Amino acid sequence: MRNETIAIHAGYEPEATTHAVAVPIYQTAAYAFDSADHGAALFNLEAEGFRYSRIANPTSAVLEKRIAQLEGGVGALAVATGQAALHFAFVNVADHGGNIVSVPQLYGTTHTLLSHILPRQGIIGRFAESDQPDAIAKLIDENTRAVFAETIGNPAGNVCDIEALARIAHAHGVPLIVDNTVATPILLKPFDYGADIAVHSLTKFLGGHGTTLGGAIVDSGNFPWAKHADRFPAYNKPDASYHGLVYAERFGRTAYIERARSVYQRTMGSVLSPFNAFLLLQGIETVALRMERHVENARKVAEFLRKDSRVAWVNYTGFPDSPYYPLVQKYLDGNASSLFTFGIKGGMEAGKTFYDALKLITRLVNIGDAKSLACHPASTTHRQMSAEQQRTAGVLPETIRLSIGIEHVSDIIEDIDQALEKACPSARLQAAE
Ligand SMILES: Cc1ncc(COP(=O)(O)O)c(C=O)c1O
Repeated sequence: MRNETIAIHAGYEPEATTHAVAVPIYQTAAYAFDSADHGAALFNLEAEGFRYSRIANPTSAVLEKRIAQLEGGVGALAVATGQAALHFAFVNVADHGGNIVSVPQLYGTTHTLLSHILPRQGIIGRFAESDQPDAIAKLIDENTRAVFAETIGNPAGNVCDIEALARIAHAHGVPLIVDNTVATPILLKPFDYGADIAVHSLTKFLGGHGTTLGGAIVDSGNFPWAKHADRFPAYNKPDASYHGLVYAERFGRTAYIERARSVYQRTMGSVLSPFNAFLLLQGIETVALRMERHVENARKVAEFLRKDSRVAWVNYTGFPDSPYYPLVQKYLDGNASSLFTFGIKGGMEAGKTFYDALKLITRLVNIGDAKSLACHPASTTHRQMSAEQQRTAGVLPETIRLSIGIEHVSDIIEDIDQALEKACPSARLQAAE
């Protein structure tokens, strides 16, 4: 099946008892056992079924199957937020200590997780100087447990060379974990290029309406955990917390995602509510259609900004002179992201006046809504970073990040035009002269 069809049908057929066509919301904490033996078989992971909604829930299970199929993976785990998904994704490879080698262009909170929070738990985030494969290679050592990148960086908009990063990670015997939130599997399927694990904030383009937080981890099933037994003892030695289970032996290709569920979802929670799973499923039904319009509108807005004399720079990877343009062709089939940044003439002050003058475009910290959104990263999402860290993450004091929605593009452009007019009227006059 193709994306559009998977997004609407995968993981669910009208269920046997009521024949409900929409995915039912199973608002239940627990599930009845037929017998003591049945309960034991469920706990032993020998029988298929549900026992308690912290571990799995039928509504969330449909969402998991749908996302796994969209990504071309062998399984997925849905969790409460994108950050919970990232946390579980990292600790699930590095909970015996070690380091994660990352590109520097990350969503601010993920940067904080790797640079401040995980180190307190013995997992060190190592940031490369750039997203170039040789910069990543330099930092990998015997304690590395994964390479990490956002397929499209938020907010830098950089497109990572997934194939090259996967090659380097695999040459060192570690998996490549990617955050595919901004691209979505509609624009890019990282497993086709060798990534091993994909993580999502479902809050963004996949959910698509800015109503519901959610996250997911997807397992490609391709990383050979048993081959790298010394580096990943958690997959290859009996797990005392689960009556001696050896994950790689027992689950083979689904070892990573089963361990994420059995170890982290089971003991730490971060559960997605069934109602939120339902809402996210509604959003996902239209994701392919929406992404087309997001991409198209963004291209027109970026072209408008680039021609405008009040604008100092536009960082849009769909322009042929962007250093990422060849990667946009290779990985995104020419569909540059609707998330991009620009700076207006007059620096920080003019940027703030522009931001405050927006009427249709919402001022907030979110991306991937049907609505057009704007953010000033230096004062919000990236404010915990030093100026130098902000710069390597692609954030300047005047940077405005746009997430272009699916409204009529003329309305979006008219709003930007009137806000630019308030921020730098003299530039307009100069242009007219
Ligand atoms: C690329 C990326 N990953 C992860 C997250 C975190 O997602 P959530 O807000 O669902 O926890 C975000 C949030 O903006 C994001 O932009």
